[in-house]
Amino acid sequence: MSAQKKSRRMTAPQIQARKGGQPIVCLTAYSTPMARILDESVDLLLVGDSLGMVIYGLDSTLGVTLDMMIAHGAAVRRGVEKACVIVDMPFGSYQASPEQAFRAAARVMAETGADGVKLEGGTEMAETVAFLSRRGIPVMGHVGLMPQSVNVAGGFRSHGRDYKEGERIRQDALAIAEAGAFSLVIEGTVEPLAREITEMLTIPTIGIGASPACDGQILVVDDMLGLFTEFQPKFVKRYANLAEDIHKAVESYAEEVRGRQFPAAEHCFGAVRPVRVVGE
Ligand code: KIV
Repeated sequence: MSAQKKSRRMTAPQIQARKGGQPIVCLTAYSTPMARILDESVDLLLVGDSLGMVIYGLDSTLGVTLDMMIAHGAAVRRGVEKACVIVDMPFGSYQASPEQAFRAAARVMAETGADGVKLEGGTEMAETVAFLSRRGIPVMGHVGLMPQSVNVAGGFRSHGRDYKEGERIRQDALAIAEAGAFSLVIEGTVEPLAREITEMLTIPTIGIGASPACDGQILVVDDMLGLFTEFQPKFVKRYANLAEDIHKAVESYAEEVRGRQFPAAEHCFGAVRPVRVVGE
């Protein structure tokens, strides 16, 4: 008998089967320690290309590379025992052709151990979604506000406000679902439209700035923990204020180092003699 440990991780088909059931809890993650903390409470962890902004301080997600996604994807996967792990395909790694997308996605799957990939796009990406899905790569779609397309979309703004744009998002969602995606992120889209798409599709929708009617919700973990504070989109709810807690902790540390209260005897090896301060 194989000595291989049986995985109890949630799979993409199991996420897909949650359509219309208990809401799917998703967060982003970028590192092993954070993934370990989040794993027990969520169904799915997305290694989002938002890491370009929240981890690397870039202005957008456009500068994120495949190697960066693979390094963080593998780190997150190492911290997870239960959640489904999906890795974002970065800008430029999949848009040229289905073959280019397959080569990049195959690297992600093989080098990270992830359960699937996510890519942005609508009707124009449907062929690629079908190409990957038929070759064994579970794909999560992403429509509405697509951060990799901010330069043509006119910045970070809500989508689907007029009939023409709403109709395009509806067609995009349908095309990606019909192409075989196992789930679909709807980002920054007016609530009635996100609700309508959720009712129309047979795969789960995951909302971010979308609708409580979506089959699941996702937030960028650094946003909801108050770690990334440069700006706060309307759709973010802060559940903690860790930047403030870190600031307070570091101030205490700095004060104790300057006052020679740290390290104390219990932090040292061997007997501690009083420090002679030059000039005192
Ligand atoms: O990159 C990301 O974190 C995402 C989520 C916001 C859905 O795409």
